[in-house]
Amino acid sequence: MDHDPRNPAYIATQGPLPSTVADFWQMVWENGCVVIVMLTPLVESGLKQCYHYWPDEGSNLYHIYEVNLVSEHIWCDDFLVRSFYLKNMQTNETRTVTQFHFLTWLNQNVPETSRTLLDFRRKVNKCYRGRSCPIIVHCSDGSGRSGTYVLIDMVLNKMAKGSKVQSGIRGLPPVTHCAPPQRPGARRGVKDQFEFALTAVAEEVNAILKALPQ
Ligand SMILES: *[C@@H]1O[C@H](CO)[C@@H](O)[C@H](O)[C@H]1NC(C)=O
Repeated sequence: MDHDPRNPAYIATQGPLPSTVADFWQMVWENGCVVIVMLTPLVESGLKQCYHYWPDEGSNLYHIYEVNLVSEHIWCDDFLVRSFYLKNMQTNETRTVTQFHFLTWLNQNVPETSRTLLDFRRKVNKCYRGRSCPIIVHCSDGSGRSGTYVLIDMVLNKMAKGSKVQSGIRGLPPVTHCAPPQRPGARRGVKDQFEFALTAVAEEVNAILKALPQ
């Protein structure tokens, strides 16, 4: 949640498993989601990170949800965008869902440059603009990369608003609340991700400063 508890801004979740893929699409449907942010490759050094929960071509049926791949657009080496038609076979209603898939951010790691992730975020938000449904954000376990992305997005959204109303960054959430829970071995990754989030914020702050009227 951001400022309004009645309107969640994000749903952060683990990547679907073979046994949860129908639940995942049900969640997309019931929350009226139009944007999915996927932050993990399907496989990392031979280890499965996430179930391949969409069709590579044509359509797949997950319980009562038919998912149709409409298009796949490779933006760069780091991310691609897929567009789906989602059909509820019980009601015959259809919706369009766009998936933004970041490919080069490995678990417990950070992207090579924050610039690429900021470009990715801009594309996500351009697609999302004007909506009020939550954005689904998932990686593999749904904590490190998802939490890092949500933190960057929330802070930059607040700063963008702040730069418009001259209220500065007083509205920032206490960042300690955004750090995911500690697990053994996760400490280093969490620290790197937190530092990365702050570095990304600093870069965008520089861009905002440069764009301010002199
Ligand atoms: C959905 O479409 C099928 C095939 O056109 C039709 O048989 C069915 O009655 C429709 N269901 C609803 C709820 O409109």
